[in-house]
Amino acid sequence: MTEDLTEKIKTVAKWIVESKYAIVLSGAGMSTESGIPDFRGPEGVWTKLGDDPMDVSSIAAFEDMASSKTPDPRMQEMLMGIVQKLITARPNKGHKVVGKLYKKGYVKAVITQNIDNLHQRGGAKEVIEVHGTYKTATCMTCGNKYKFEQLLQMVLQDGMFPPLCEKTQCGGFIKPDVVFFGEMLPPMALRKSMHYAETTDLMLILGSSLVVYPAANLPNIAKSNGAKIVIINDEETPKDNIADIIIRGRLGEVLPKILEEVELLEQKKGS
Ligand code: APR
Repeated sequence: MTEDLTEKIKTVAKWIVESKYAIVLSGAGMSTESGIPDFRGPEGVWTKLGDDPMDVSSIAAFEDMASSKTPDPRMQEMLMGIVQKLITARPNKGHKVVGKLYKKGYVKAVITQNIDNLHQRGGAKEVIEVHGTYKTATCMTCGNKYKFEQLLQMVLQDGMFPPLCEKTQCGGFIKPDVVFFGEMLPPMALRKSMHYAETTDLMLILGSSLVVYPAANLPNIAKSNGAKIVIINDEETPKDNIADIIIRGRLGEVLPKILEEVELLEQKKGS
């Protein structure tokens, strides 16, 4: 490990131990080491798709596909591919470190753009899913709620996506409770994420390209309220200019080293 990286890891660990209200803002880079592809990294879903993500992941594209009843093969393939990975994914070392920092009381909340439920399974309890969750789904006509397992069963049975609502006299399309481009964020999640960004004194930004708003505005809100900003990401982001520390590296390697340093500091404090 370079001298510079060692120093940065020690400083971030010190800031965590000294923080009053640390929060995490995470993106898809948090889950690539669990086998779930990110969107804009070198192997990302949008990187590989090549076209405009709007073509397949906007609410308009979803509604067109649903009403035309002719499934868009690319959307089908993309969705079924992601579903497979979501079902088999497990929390990785990064999720577990965030869970430990949460349990130790340093991290008060995790704001995530991810829909994979892996922060919860990694041990964090206060998780704000600003882009929704794959765990539930809703009929776009009558609002009937479904669990992911029901949705998957219906898709495998009918062989097409989206499945139709089973409520009598409905037959509307069932959409996963994830936020598509062009959709509003869940209001409560948005309000809570703003509150945490205004309250934190240390924002740890983990594995996000920070290009999708309003989530990408949260670092600016935190910064303007005097918080320290730490970005840990494989690639540059447009918010690097407001970061107090930037660590280029894999989260699965860097986060365990930060936790090690935190526990060393705790021992020194305890001794
Ligand atoms: N360690 C560190 N960084 C990583 C790792 C890793 N193991 N894996 C990927 N990264 C970095 C990538 O280099 C990239 O910069 O994480 C970042 C992920 O960025 P995106 O793929 O753009 O994901 P995200 O920022 O979460 O996207 C925001 O865009 O398409 C929408 O709704 C979708 O929530 C998503 C939103």
